[in-house]
Amino acid sequence: MNAVPAQHARVLSGMRPTGRLHLGHYHGVLKNWLELQHEYQCFFFVADWHALTTHYDDPTGIPQNTWDMVIDWLAAGVNPGEATMFVQSQVPEHAELHLLLSMITPLGWLERVPSYKDQQERLKEKDLATYGFLGYPLLQSADILIYKAGLVPVGEDQVAHVELTREVARRFNHIYGREADFEERAEEAIKKMGKKNAKLYNKYRKAYTEQGDDEALAAARALLESQQNIGIADRDRLFGYLEGGGKVILPEPQPLLTKASKMPGLDGQKMSKSYGNTIALNASPEAVEKQLRTMPTDPARVRRTDPGDPDRCPVWQFHEVYSDDKLKQWVQEGCRSASIGCLECKAPVIDAVLAELKPIQERVREYEEQPELVRNIIDEGNERARDVARETMEDVRHAMSLR
Ligand code: TRP
Ligand code: SF4
Repeated sequence: MNAVPAQHARVLSGMRPTGRLHLGHYHGVLKNWLELQHEYQCFFFVADWHALTTHYDDPTGIPQNTWDMVIDWLAAGVNPGEATMFVQSQVPEHAELHLLLSMITPLGWLERVPSYKDQQERLKEKDLATYGFLGYPLLQSADILIYKAGLVPVGEDQVAHVELTREVARRFNHIYGREADFEERAEEAIKKMGKKNAKLYNKYRKAYTEQGDDEALAAARALLESQQNIGIADRDRLFGYLEGGGKVILPEPQPLLTKASKMPGLDGQKMSKSYGNTIALNASPEAVEKQLRTMPTDPARVRRTDPGDPDRCPVWQFHEVYSDDKLKQWVQEGCRSASIGCLECKAPVIDAVLAELKPIQERVREYEEQPELVRNIIDEGNERARDVARETMEDVRHAMSLR
């Protein structure tokens, strides 16, 4: 176990700065982040080092993409008052943890991560037989563990990376969490909580270790979370002591699977840069209108008088995202009876996409006019992230006898 209880979890997620965001990101990832930021302490970061693992031969675009990405997040509604936004390379502690974790990570674990071979196959034009690319998921583990994140919102393709992170954390805790005087230290830490809480803790611990009472475990964890009198190291000891193990230095995260985005691309496949079917968040209204007017429809509708089938038409998928029942019924009937034309059918979709993009684009413009403000948001985020990362590294170095 050794996972962070969900209600206390810190959320962490990152994106590689490989180009401007599009509606697929907005519907698939960002809207999810917007909800999470109200519920949890969130850290969202630009994974610029991860971009380097595949773009090492031409890194010149990364700084601009990083900047644009943060502006797109802000414009989409990520709130710097609620969530911490930062840039990976500005928190060099990630690299230190990556290095230290590399000492205990068996090569086979990395070679077996599915994305390792898949991406090498997919990106044949690049030489990805590098040390850095093999380490990609371990760097991601460091990103996650350095914030002791409990929840990591990711798509299906990233779940294996979170799984690796859990294994690495387990191994780390197993090797380094065993202090010689662990039990004495734990008993001392219990006393520091005060008589009443110490008694409660012992009661819950007994109920869990002797009867496997999961509720008692949850209650004990909640009790520890609320303690003000004990430091982080003591708290970690007591978390570990609860389950009969050693000290939990790096808690295991859970993936929070992001539902596959329903947002279709202009050709009806999933919207993705690699398919060239995206609508960029910063596309001008004229460009968006043109993209939608020229997008393919049911190939069977050659003439206006031919009836069509919405199930064979990408435009219908847009209606599924944007239209209410009444409008959808109008499409279904009008298309099948050839009583509406395709341009007519697209008009409400065009309106809906433009209406969705308008406020986002206005905010993009506002932020672009205030580079100082954006700079400050990023600087502050970097600082806040570093404060947490430094604290974790103190524990990690101590556990590894590096001090
Ligand atoms: N590998 C992730 C992706 O390609 C990006 C990423 C890097 C990430 N570090 C992370 C996501 C940590 C979640 C947590 O999408
Ligand atoms: Fe597609 Fe609408 Fe044309 Fe039917 S009427 S083929 S749903 S665009």
